[in-house]
Amino acid sequence: MVLQEQSVGQVMDGKALAASVRETLKQEVDMLLAAGKRRPGLAVVLVGDDKASALYVKNKTQSCKKVGIESFMHTFPAATDMETLLNCITTLNESEAVDGILVQLPLPAHLSSEEVLSVLDPNKDVDGLTIESMGRLFAGKTGLRPCTPVGVMALLEQYNVEVEGKHAVVIGRSNLVGKPIAMLLMQKNATVTMCHSRTKDLDQICQNADILVVAAGKREFVKGSWVKPGACVIDVGIHHTHGPAGESVISGDVQYVDAAKVARFITPVPGGVGPMTVAMLLANTIVAYERRTGIK
Ligand code: GUN
Repeated sequence: MVLQEQSVGQVMDGKALAASVRETLKQEVDMLLAAGKRRPGLAVVLVGDDKASALYVKNKTQSCKKVGIESFMHTFPAATDMETLLNCITTLNESEAVDGILVQLPLPAHLSSEEVLSVLDPNKDVDGLTIESMGRLFAGKTGLRPCTPVGVMALLEQYNVEVEGKHAVVIGRSNLVGKPIAMLLMQKNATVTMCHSRTKDLDQICQNADILVVAAGKREFVKGSWVKPGACVIDVGIHHTHGPAGESVISGDVQYVDAAKVARFITPVPGGVGPMTVAMLLANTIVAYERRTGIK
């Protein structure tokens, strides 16, 4: 019997890469301050009392502090009306101290995120979610890109994962993750297959993926048997559940233990894509600052 060598996936450490990105950004901010310039500023708008959103937002403002970006928190009760929210965005658009504006999603059901994004100044759109930012991405023009997709591309680069000519499969077609990741991969000359909840034979499509990006929003949706041996697996999901003893468990959209046995590279949850999203938000804020102040 010939024993097959079992490949064990290398963990793509998003936590470490994010820390190194933050260190570089901190040096940039220090240089700006040493030159007598003002601090870059990020405004974060949170509406309602969704626990997960509150936690993400806290994480974002704490990360701002670490690199010296000023954060301006704007918290509204769930019953806030559209006019109040739009007035807030307009004020932030006009504020000299604010370089980036992030409206934490999802908004309560009675508020339209589309309408909010339609008034947001694209020059301050650090989430890359306005129609202008999306159009610029799709047209291959410079602009602010959504943070998670940029974070994923940074991870691929850090681990020297070859993208050109490879088959990338993206599960999920959101404006925030799936669509922009597909665009960025295509711009790096991958052949991209976009999959979603109505895709047939998903397991077979995944088995042909050199790079598999999973943003399905379903816990442990992708099984180890779906992963092509030697593939790179990027797990964008995050799910909070409880284990048998009531302990808190965090998992992703991929069955990690099984997938890690066949993948060449794999992102853990937590500690993979999540920290990169936040690091790229800070990077986008500094890019917006530099463009607004004419430094770059
Ligand atoms: N909700 C979950 N992820 C994100 C994100 O990256 N940006 C915003 N604005 N809301 C989110």
